[in-house]
Amino acid sequence: MTYTIAVVNQKGGVGKTTSSVNLAAGLAGKKYKVLLIDFDPQGHSSEHLSVKPNPNKTALEALTKSEELEACTYPSYIPNLWVLPSNLRLGQYNQNTPVGRQFNLKEVLAEKKSEYDFIIIDCQPSLSLLTLNALVACNKVLLPVQAEFLALDGLSQLIVTLKEIQSKLQPNLSVLGILLTMYDRRNKLSFEVRSELEKNFKEDIFSTAIPRNVKLAEAPSFGKTIFDYAPTSPGAQAYFDLSDEVVKKLDLKKRRKAKAK
Ligand SMILES: Nc1ncnc2c1ncn2[C@@H]1O[C@H](COP(=O)(O)OP(=O)(O)O)[C@@H](O)[C@H]1O
Ligand SMILES: [Mg+2]
Repeated sequence: MTYTIAVVNQKGGVGKTTSSVNLAAGLAGKKYKVLLIDFDPQGHSSEHLSVKPNPNKTALEALTKSEELEACTYPSYIPNLWVLPSNLRLGQYNQNTPVGRQFNLKEVLAEKKSEYDFIIIDCQPSLSLLTLNALVACNKVLLPVQAEFLALDGLSQLIVTLKEIQSKLQPNLSVLGILLTMYDRRNKLSFEVRSELEKNFKEDIFSTAIPRNVKLAEAPSFGKTIFDYAPTSPGAQAYFDLSDEVVKKLDLKKRRKAKAK
């Protein structure tokens, strides 16, 4: 079975791209076959992995079916990790998509899903048509939340949107976890954000929190994941732990389901 995980938060700068890239790399390091979909026209996750695509063979062409998915998928420098890259043109999908073709991604992935163990979708910072496509195509969502003032603002709206999609378009959708990012254990605010989240979403919060770590901010400009740029950094350790936790969480759920049968 393929787990398709959309990394979503309508706020920018909360760690979606950093988490998508490093979780994808962490899972690939565990020998899972992973496809990372860059679903933000800013193309940051493609850049983060030094993928240099043909500008006319990207996520937009795969999504509009003017090219086959394979033709738009590129190997990254990491074994087991492939990338469906984006560029600014992907933004056209939000504006120029005819009715009836709104939720193409699900269909595009359906044929090829079995080739991958994980598909990770790095979403853009808005609840756009692209992001809705990702939510309809995925079966799990990972919600990065920055441990800062007003972090929870918007999360409730996001949860309402998820529930609507779940009831109308994608009954299999569920929250894989809420991930605290840029977490500073010495900072009272980080602690308060965590406590507040726990009041509302206790089971859904990953026990791994991603610390604020400058190495994570430096790695993209070297075109490397944190595991290659700074393998002994706290950031690398955190994303390693997160990959472990994701695998365990999914396994657990599988086992629980099997038991119930
Ligand atoms: N844990 C972290 N510690 C320090 N800097 C981080 C961390 N996570 C992300 N960043 C930096 O913060 C900025 C926003 O992160 P990014 O992953 O691009 O967010 P998003 O994709 O949600 O917009 C980037 O410059 C990134 O390098
Ligand atoms: Mg991003």
